[in-house]
Amino acid sequence: MRRILVAGNWKMNGSKTSIGHLLGGIVSGLAQVSDVDVLVCPPFPYLAQVQGLLVGTNVALGAQNASEHPPGAFTGEVAVEMLTDFGCEYVIVGHSERRALYGETDAQVAHKFETVQSAGLTPILCLGETLEERESGVTETVVARQLDAVLERVGVKAIADAVVAYEPVWAIGTGRTASPDQAQAVHAFIRARVAGHDTQVAQALRILYGGSVKGGNAQELFGKQDIDGGLIGGASLQADDFLAICHAAH
Ligand code: PGA
Repeated sequence: MRRILVAGNWKMNGSKTSIGHLLGGIVSGLAQVSDVDVLVCPPFPYLAQVQGLLVGTNVALGAQNASEHPPGAFTGEVAVEMLTDFGCEYVIVGHSERRALYGETDAQVAHKFETVQSAGLTPILCLGETLEERESGVTETVVARQLDAVLERVGVKAIADAVVAYEPVWAIGTGRTASPDQAQAVHAFIRARVAGHDTQVAQALRILYGGSVKGGNAQELFGKQDIDGGLIGGASLQADDFLAICHAAH
């Protein structure tokens, strides 16, 4: 049985004050929820603050990105060792915004995945097609290429200690969610592709859906056979919205 995971990706949002309010609301609203894993990924400068606020709670801490390199002369980058130093357990790898806006390639994403795992952190590997790719019928080709780059680098056993997030780019921040059937179809495709290497790893793998998930659509999405939770952007910035999604999962 795969446990549902709800992960909040705050992206480049928040302040010391707003984060204090947001987390206060999330933590108190989750006190009774024990059958769903919940995680928040703040911007780097707030990791210490959030780590402190999460002590003794059932909410885990993650980062939105990490360098593929060991500590050294990489101005502006953050090493995985720094993330473990602040109590991070998860790192988002290969988010479509990193791929599209910062030119991260499949090979670089695979390298990041490996570096994150080598520090004992759990990568959340993001895969997903653009609108143009979906409309030209190459969704599976694109998702397979992104997944295979990681499988080839680290092997299928490493996927057992990771989370995958399917995030169609056209559904991120647009209010346009993939229908539960559209999402399920790609999730099933991803699981089958991993199963081609190892069926046990595939069965245990948590595959999250991301892209305009809200309280109102979460239950139907998470009810699908191969959807094991969500990676939540916009709706993770308001405690009530995020809690509605966590409760839908519960
Ligand atoms: P969204 O973002 O929920 O705002 O669509 C999801 C994501 O980018 O992880």
